[in-house]
Amino acid sequence: MSKNAMKTVAVHALKGGVGKSTFAVNLAWASAVRSRRRTLLWDLDPQGAATWLLQPPKKAKDAAQAIFTRDVDAHDLVRPTIIDGLDLLAADSSLRDLERVLIELGKRKRLARLLDNLDKHYDRVLLDCPPGLNETSDQVLHAADLLVVPVIPSPLVQKTLDDLSTFLIQRGGKHPPILPVFSMVDRRRKLHQVALTETPDWPVVPYASIVEQMGIKRMPLGAFAPASAPAREFAALWTLIEQKLAQD
Ligand SMILES: Nc1ncnc2c1ncn2[C@@H]1O[C@H](COP(=O)(O)OP(=O)(O)O)[C@@H](O)[C@H]1O
Ligand SMILES: [Mg+2]
Repeated sequence: MSKNAMKTVAVHALKGGVGKSTFAVNLAWASAVRSRRRTLLWDLDPQGAATWLLQPPKKAKDAAQAIFTRDVDAHDLVRPTIIDGLDLLAADSSLRDLERVLIELGKRKRLARLLDNLDKHYDRVLLDCPPGLNETSDQVLHAADLLVVPVIPSPLVQKTLDDLSTFLIQRGGKHPPILPVFSMVDRRRKLHQVALTETPDWPVVPYASIVEQMGIKRMPLGAFAPASAPAREFAALWTLIEQKLAQD
């Protein structure tokens, strides 16, 4: 543990399209604005959804991979966003090669070391992760204090989490606590109701069309619809995350 109280929260899932980037952006907003934490969102997914949503000014080409390979100080590549207190380490297409780059580097704690260098600048770091269990997720598991896993309710929910646990067990070593959160919940749907009753203690983010508008406005919900139900759900989820972080 570092002297500073910087904490890293990774938003991770096996699948794409489950709400990872939506979570990362809205939780980062809650951290910066509601908790007044110096917050960094690090977009590790070459798809760059979180980067798109936070509409940063352009920076050097291929910078996202250079953080890992060259002697670039990650903090030099950080950009401010339109949200006070929220900075961004943007994704770009160079991250498509990140898996190969990390394997070739052969340093399992590369990401953790890079984060150590950021801890004088930030209180909270949100990692928006690419989907899957791979070298990048292994690095994330070394680096994160908490893993938030968005899960769309389905009969496969338990299997998905079992796959993750099996991976964690086979991988060995320590891993951060996991917080599964239901994502895109539609309580009118029978399957969703069933899944929710099976694991009633998991937090819930409902399906709502205002969430999709983030892609049009290119802002976190809190910046254009702070009173909306999903904005409040994300704020409550962030409060829960802060409580969990305070426990270790
Ligand atoms: N709670 C929600 N309600 C409605 N649409 C959502 C919700 N969460 C995410 N979405 C939409 O679903 C799509 C995938 O979400 P995204 O966060 O990009 O997933 P991932 O990062 O896991 O690929 C996006 O178009 C997003 O706007
Ligand atoms: Mg994403």
